[in-house]
Amino acid sequence: MIIEKEKVRETVEYLSSRTEVKPEIGIILGSGLGAVVKLLEDSIHIPYPDIPNFPVSSVKGHGGKLAFGTYAGKGLVVQEGRVHFYEGLGAAKVMYPLWVMKALGVKTIINTNAAGGINPNFAGGDLMLVKDHINFMFTNPLIGPNDESIGPRFPDISEAYNPELGEIARHAAEKIGIKLQSGILISFPGPSYETRAEIAMAIKLGADAVGMSTVPEAIVSSYLGLRFLAITFISNLVSPTRTEPLTHKDVTRAAARASKNLAALIGEIIKEMG
Ligand code: HPA
Repeated sequence: MIIEKEKVRETVEYLSSRTEVKPEIGIILGSGLGAVVKLLEDSIHIPYPDIPNFPVSSVKGHGGKLAFGTYAGKGLVVQEGRVHFYEGLGAAKVMYPLWVMKALGVKTIINTNAAGGINPNFAGGDLMLVKDHINFMFTNPLIGPNDESIGPRFPDISEAYNPELGEIARHAAEKIGIKLQSGILISFPGPSYETRAEIAMAIKLGADAVGMSTVPEAIVSSYLGLRFLAITFISNLVSPTRTEPLTHKDVTRAAARASKNLAALIGEIIKEMG
């Protein structure tokens, strides 16, 4: 994938004209997980359509603002809402915000997403530290020509989920008394939710949760040399025998309820990041 440096430069120039914050941490918020932006002090929220070259999400509950501010003395940029692969804009557009964050000076990404829980020990509302992923999106965001000055053609992504950040997350959760599960995320392209047969397959493959994002963000972050931490919110449980229907509204409602816990956890993680 090639991203035009000139476009990124234009985006960064605009953002730098709107805020003095020099972000070192970038946060990506999943469906309905907006409470995290309340952590920000002296924040400014810029709607995506105002930002040159920025992709705009068409999905309800995905917000669509880039927020800048500080927390615990650190500069943060928060993506309130993300564009998903299933919106059909192509990898270069979907991954564009990560390039921008890198160009803004971000070193660490904290990614959040909602997912269906398939591990029988999980409950709806749980938070899960992503240890690793299975890419079942039938694509890879790095497909296409490569610019070796940005990253390698064949990046090693075996530690895409930074173990040190994972330890910090576990410690932070323990400190503030929030249960943090951990597991493997399998990602399907969506937008349809999974069939019962697909869920049965995901269980056999060893996954703990199913989602439609985060995997591409992890791959591109690794490629760009960004430290990556992913926390998944288990918005619903799925199983091959589930009979009740699942709607996007169910997912965003559950996320809104869990958003406070997630915000507290992310706040503590940032404090412990030193
Ligand atoms: N499947 C895929 N993505 C999801 C789910 C799910 O059950 N819940 C929230 N995002």
